[in-house]
Amino acid sequence: MRRPFKDKRPIGPLFGQSSADTIQSRLTSGVREDIGFEEGGSVKVYFHSSTNMDELKNGEIALFVTSPPYNVDYTYGSINDAKPYREYMSLLAKVFSEAYNKLMPEGRLCVNVPTIDKTNADAMGEGNIPVASDLTSMMVDDPSLGNKFSTPEINELKRTTDYSLFDHIIWNKGRFDTEVNLGSLGIGRPFRFEHDITHESILIFQKPGMRNLSTIDQDRLNASRLNKDWWTSGPGYEFDTNAKSNLWNIRPSNKIEVNGEKVPTFPEELPRRLIQGYSFVGDIVVDPFAGVGTTLKVAKDLDRLSVGYELREDLRPEIEKRVGESV
Ligand SMILES: C[S@@+](CC[C@H](N)C(=O)[O-])C[C@H]1O[C@@H](n2cnc3c(N)ncnc32)[C@H](O)[C@@H]1O
Repeated sequence: MRRPFKDKRPIGPLFGQSSADTIQSRLTSGVREDIGFEEGGSVKVYFHSSTNMDELKNGEIALFVTSPPYNVDYTYGSINDAKPYREYMSLLAKVFSEAYNKLMPEGRLCVNVPTIDKTNADAMGEGNIPVASDLTSMMVDDPSLGNKFSTPEINELKRTTDYSLFDHIIWNKGRFDTEVNLGSLGIGRPFRFEHDITHESILIFQKPGMRNLSTIDQDRLNASRLNKDWWTSGPGYEFDTNAKSNLWNIRPSNKIEVNGEKVPTFPEELPRRLIQGYSFVGDIVVDPFAGVGTTLKVAKDLDRLSVGYELREDLRPEIEKRVGESV
């Protein structure tokens, strides 16, 4: 028995349509009971590790959008995110192997990670971790080149998947969330100067093959169309680049408070661009590290179905508040 959700929003009409026969209502009338969407609902969250996504059929997912846990500058209460790096990469390898099975041909996996992590570095900058480039080489380098770490999970990823790097977007956060850290070496001194980190990476990996677009009906194609506004303007456009550029200037969102704990989220503009750019209305979008459900909320706003995986069941009420339905 599912808990009733009190603040259930009616499902909005699709892109200004007022007809009862909206794509959304067709999408959600009894759709995919195997996934467990509620009648009329379009978001489902499983509260277990995304190393296993058995609820999804192989080859059916158009898009994954995620920001993996990592103890860069925040804590997550009960979940220990401060894993040793090799273990962290092994977790990603396992989840992204599973994602590969679930992706359709030409499907995309978008991963937001720090470009460089300096949290473990000493004063000389030794020990900085190049997260984005390590992840890229783990995901796409020829297996014969080996990997920085050889773990069973990473070896399995290399043996069983064939991702390519489709794009690398730099998310420029500006200086909005950083403090100027002069450090003991002082800002006036060259040579050992350290930059503040004001950008992150969004790596977009692709499964080989071509999606058969002829199976998508005309209504869905029309509703998914990217109009001129999408390319040129939007709430996150702080400076003078647009969604077509691979430099995205987007103000970071504030951490939100859940049970007295500060939880980080990425800004809605980030999954919005990825979902609009890489999926059609009615596709299933998955976030394997769902957090408080930003990806799922945006997917719903954009008339996509969405599935999240999250270890922390205490985040359920916050997710439900955001997506406006029980999950
Ligand atoms: C960086 S947060 C995601 C934040 C999300 N982008 C948002 O805006 O809310 C990463 C989340 O992954 C969850 N997590 C960690 N390991 C996991 C696993 N193996 N399976 C599923 N979720 C996991 C953590 O509990 C955390 O909530």
